[in-house]
Amino acid sequence: MSCARAAVARPLWRLRTGARRPLSAYGRKIGVRFCSSRMTLDNINWAVVDRIIRVDHAGEYGANRIYAGQMAVLGRTSVGPVIQKMWDQEKDHLKKFNELMVAFRVRPTILMPFWNVVGFALGAGTALLGKEGAMACTVAVEESIAHHYNNQIRTLMEEDPEKYEELLQIIKKFRDEELEHHDIGLDHDAELAPAYALLKSIIQVGCSAAIYLSERF
Ligand SMILES: [Fe+2]
Ligand SMILES: [Fe+2]
Repeated sequence: MSCARAAVARPLWRLRTGARRPLSAYGRKIGVRFCSSRMTLDNINWAVVDRIIRVDHAGEYGANRIYAGQMAVLGRTSVGPVIQKMWDQEKDHLKKFNELMVAFRVRPTILMPFWNVVGFALGAGTALLGKEGAMACTVAVEESIAHHYNNQIRTLMEEDPEKYEELLQIIKKFRDEELEHHDIGLDHDAELAPAYALLKSIIQVGCSAAIYLSERF
């Protein structure tokens, strides 16, 4: 059975040994399968998985809105293609967490409408400071998200690295891509933004608050 037909045959995929729904059905760039681990819907730590998927979905949604705001201001400038490329990766990240939410029956945070507006405003607002401002925002946000993903990796490793192997692979891959975005921001003069250190600190306090709230609500 082809991957596409398998996806149609199992619209609500269940995690269990032998469940051969390829992860490629969730994201083009991940070539592993959720069939090798001992993770099933019955044996996962629901509190941990529920929190991780909800907050990561919210974070990737927020990142998408930030890049949308940046593109609205800087899309036609020389950094437009750079921002677009990062945004495209964020779209893949969000798509993956959308699909994991369905698979694990996790509800989104009630704060989604808020992150919609705040994310766009943050992206557009920093972009109005110039490309350096936009890149400073990228550095601040991506550093926070990478740190957040590292915390989740530690949590899952402490829980059971074998059981959560595939979820760990997804989070590690996304963590690495967020770090690439962080480095792209630095390479594009983020540190030349007005009041860079202060701007970065303020944005990172906001990210911490967003993570705290999205995990709980
Ligand atoms: Fe992302
Ligand atoms: Fe990112």
